[in-house]
Amino acid sequence: MGATWTFHSAGQIVFGPGAVEQLGGIATRMGLRSVQLVSDPVLDSAGIVEKVKKPLREAGIEVLLDLGGEPEPTWQAAMACLAKAREWRPDGIIGLGGGSNMDLAKLTAKCLTHGGEPGDYTGDDRLPGPIMPLVCIPTTAGTGSEVSCADVYTDPRQGIKLGSLSNHLRPRLALVDPLLTHSCPPKVTADSGIDALVHAIEAFTAVDNEGFPLPAGQRSCYQGRHPMGMAMAREAISLAGKHLRRAVAKGTDAEARSGMALAAMYGGLAFSNVGVALVHALEYAVASFVPVSHGAGNGLLLPHVMRFNLPGRERDMVEIARLLGHGELEPARAIDSVASLAAEIGIPQRLRDLGARQDMLAPMAEKTLAMTRILRVNPRQPTVGDLMGILQSAY
Ligand SMILES: NC(=O)c1ccc[n+]([C@@H]2O[C@H](COP(=O)([O-])OP(=O)(O)OC[C@H]3O[C@@H](n4cnc5c(N)ncnc54)[C@H](O)[C@@H]3O)[C@@H](O)[C@H]2O)c1
Ligand SMILES: [Zn+2]
Repeated sequence: MGATWTFHSAGQIVFGPGAVEQLGGIATRMGLRSVQLVSDPVLDSAGIVEKVKKPLREAGIEVLLDLGGEPEPTWQAAMACLAKAREWRPDGIIGLGGGSNMDLAKLTAKCLTHGGEPGDYTGDDRLPGPIMPLVCIPTTAGTGSEVSCADVYTDPRQGIKLGSLSNHLRPRLALVDPLLTHSCPPKVTADSGIDALVHAIEAFTAVDNEGFPLPAGQRSCYQGRHPMGMAMAREAISLAGKHLRRAVAKGTDAEARSGMALAAMYGGLAFSNVGVALVHALEYAVASFVPVSHGAGNGLLLPHVMRFNLPGRERDMVEIARLLGHGELEPARAIDSVASLAAEIGIPQRLRDLGARQDMLAPMAEKTLAMTRILRVNPRQPTVGDLMGILQSAY
């Protein structure tokens, strides 16, 4: 008999091209009379904010528009969004955008419900209870934040990204309308799309649920890989392999956009139950030294971490190669395949191309080693020397 595992998701998932038109009816059934719509000026100019406002307005729901979103949001952006929420007192919060705006909405909803500021909840499972109605509507296909238990912001004072994990952070509603991603520019499509693949591969090759090394007395949303998480990860890998190149090359390719929206959501369901691992730990460290988007940093590091994780995960790597469309039973094929996919869609290839210097690698390795709640999801525990080796190979 195996170990006991759990699976959490958004309260409701509504998926499909044009799904946003149903938002008024759904929000009414959720009992919402006024909502704070958290988005940003780019999405407003692209006409996407209006696509969400319209069905809400037609259903008689008051929309309090907040365009304070920004890529990789800072603590200040979160505090500004929260200040508006404390003034407006909406019934619900809607995050419209990529992971950045969806996370901003999560940060706001939890602090409006439980008080305090984002820093009070940093870490794993620190929210005392459920949060107010939260709706997430992704306009990128990548982060999976629409279904995930995570939110992230950057603390400029410490120069690091801080995250919190809680199953209470999963949106009440994830409304995924692939048509909203058609205007996503190629670089954002590539960076967020490779993040979805990283989520899926990290979950698929994670430590087994039976052996998840959670210290006694600690709780975590992450629990190591289990059958349902792996099923989601398998689908996400295969969909990203099939659709990511096309979505980057031609943004209006409806089939590719739908495929990637699904890949991102499945990737989010996989990682937010199983966990993310060494790629994410290294990326947080790298991004605190050089400017790089979350997805691009992850995409750059992925093949190097897969190589490190190969011993003990050979069969899984063979399956990844197969899911990515290869026939050979050779695990290294999976690594070559993700490396060439990343290169083809324009993910930076070397840390030095991001402006990293040799003398940054040791402090990056030190920072990575401190991310214990992510590292314990990795199938193989790295030493500082191992991390230096991985960073050197990516340099
Ligand atoms: N909460 C989670 O589970 C989770 C998971 C992974 C990553 N993240 C976080 O998500 C953030 C990255 O999110 P992202 O990759 O989705 O990008 P993003 O949200 O940072 O968006 C990048 C840019 O693309 C623009 N954009 C987004 N959709 C568009 C569209 N359809 N048309 C035109 N422009 C569009 C945005 O306005 C923004 O300027 C990071 O902060 C990362 O740490 C969170
Ligand atoms: Zn990620």
